[in-house]
Amino acid sequence: MDVTGDETRAAWAVASRKYTDEYDVLLEQARTAELFPAEVAALGEVVPGADVVHPMSGHGLDDIALARLGARSVHGVDYSEPALSSARRRAEALGLPCRYTAATMPDSGLDDACADVVYTGKGALIWVPDLPAFLAECRRLLRPGGRFYVYEAHPTVPLWAWDDDEIRVRPDRGYFERSHVNDTFPAHGAVERQRTLAETVMACLRAGFTIEHLEEHPEPFWRPAGLDAAAWDGRVPNAFSLLARRS
Ligand SMILES: C[S@@+](CC[C@H](N)C(=O)[O-])C[C@H]1O[C@@H](n2cnc3c(N)ncnc32)[C@H](O)[C@@H]1O
Repeated sequence: MDVTGDETRAAWAVASRKYTDEYDVLLEQARTAELFPAEVAALGEVVPGADVVHPMSGHGLDDIALARLGARSVHGVDYSEPALSSARRRAEALGLPCRYTAATMPDSGLDDACADVVYTGKGALIWVPDLPAFLAECRRLLRPGGRFYVYEAHPTVPLWAWDDDEIRVRPDRGYFERSHVNDTFPAHGAVERQRTLAETVMACLRAGFTIEHLEEHPEPFWRPAGLDAAAWDGRVPNAFSLLARRS
């Protein structure tokens, strides 16, 4: 068990080289990057003019999409230098108001109440061992009335096999497990934390958020190239999104 997070960090140090290796491909994607329609529906009136902080900002394409949606500023936080430097270069190349800080969540090092919106997800909460501490940090970063938004893999996702003929539950996985080791690209070897949807919702309420919107989505936020699993055919949940107000 990766108690310290060192194995996960090591896995990301390798995985995030991809962001630099594929700099040009990602730059082309960044030129037209947009949030998902469900995200735009939830954030379309919240993000314009907002200062946004994005913990676990990764390749930064969502930062570019948030800036394009009208954010006044977007501040990405990640512990991977390759991820940060490639995201910074892309935002500069496109002239968008995104900046980046190297930090290990839940200690972002950013000022209290510096954000109107904290946006995260698409492979973020699974790396968080202590969700209450992470949510407390997100709340600290928000101005009164600010919004926390997450678009994340549904907690059933670790269960789905990638068979293309029928939906099957992996025999080595369980919905109520606490973690599993990622056995696919890009984060191979990293420990993914698991929590039920109810646990995530309750953690948000306990952290001092009022939930304004909660939705489950059939589409995965990411599909490995060349795969078309039956679990992605619209019958089972593959993502969820949650919008909460700092109460
Ligand atoms: C799947 S990527 C993230 C998501 C981003 N939405 C994207 O699509 O690129 C996960 C990112 O989380 C970062 N990360 C994982 N644990 C972290 C932590 N405790 N503090 C800061 N960054 C972390 C990794 O370096 C990686 O860039």
